[in-house]
Amino acid sequence: MYYPVYRPRRLRKSAALRALVRETEVSVNDLIYPLFIIHGQKIRNEIPSMPGQFQISIDQLDKEIEEITKLGIPGVILFGLPETKDPAATGAYDEDGIVQEAIKKIKQINIDLLVITDVCLCEYMDHGHCGITKNGEVQNDLTLELLAKTALSHATAGADMVAPSDMMDGRVAAIRSQLDEGGFEDLPIMSYAAKYASAFYGPFREAADSSPTFGDRRSYQMDPPNALEALREVAMDIEEGADIVMVKPALSYLDVIAGIRSEFDYPLAAYNVSGEYSIIKAAAEKGWIDERKVVLEVLTSIKRAGADIVLTYHAKDAAKWLNDKATD
Ligand code: PBG
Repeated sequence: MYYPVYRPRRLRKSAALRALVRETEVSVNDLIYPLFIIHGQKIRNEIPSMPGQFQISIDQLDKEIEEITKLGIPGVILFGLPETKDPAATGAYDEDGIVQEAIKKIKQINIDLLVITDVCLCEYMDHGHCGITKNGEVQNDLTLELLAKTALSHATAGADMVAPSDMMDGRVAAIRSQLDEGGFEDLPIMSYAAKYASAFYGPFREAADSSPTFGDRRSYQMDPPNALEALREVAMDIEEGADIVMVKPALSYLDVIAGIRSEFDYPLAAYNVSGEYSIIKAAAEKGWIDERKVVLEVLTSIKRAGADIVLTYHAKDAAKWLNDKATD
């Protein structure tokens, strides 16, 4: 059916018609907001490469959580900056660690806000890698125990969901069995299943102080050219007990999101990462793009590719814009 019988423009004529046939809609319900928690008092350090994002101390959480709650954002994902780092990532599973304390505080402020924790060791290791190292190499099986311990400590502190981002093989199974043993068989796991060794994490490493002091993460994070391998990673994580699977980053990997969507019927998340955020903020600051329109277009594209959930630093702005739109 072609022109002149079919004229696609007929359904683009008015806002009401466009809304009627719209295939994808971003909702505030889909968004998760990342938070960086740091030791100290009255700290709200703006992250230079991520304008509008802050490292915040626990005493600042009241205001922050109140704002997030008011905007209707359903959940946060926590990253911690510990006071000290060591070769066993002790701070990651310390029951009074930075993330554990933040969880307890957030739960006091709003028990209904979903508190998700990033389970990784890089912020807590003195060498900045995501696992135990020996002779300069990250040791997979030795690391699993620490990851499981970390996840259990988050659960014990009151987290609603844990999100392993380390990319060790077998970590979902290790975490699942540790959680089950600890009585947390109902606590879901959102695995960073297809996490690529991406240059788009640059600003995050400044925010979370988690750059490796030697080498890089290419021996554990995925090689960017690979998409079929992402299907195997997802299959493996689901088999091991992941409840939600994630692709990260989002924008350069929309094909990976779409591929996973068509192969698996599990909830799918995408992480719109720090570098993706910084690029937009920088261009918007220069007046080169319309930030609101670009952000909403980006979030829509991630959902259109097939993601159900988007982790994004734009969450607060997007929530405001989406709420405005609803009353426009
Ligand atoms: C921890 C972790 C990273 C991100 C999330 N969890 C950094 C990394 O793998 O180096 C990146 C998030 C972002 O860039 O926004 N491993």
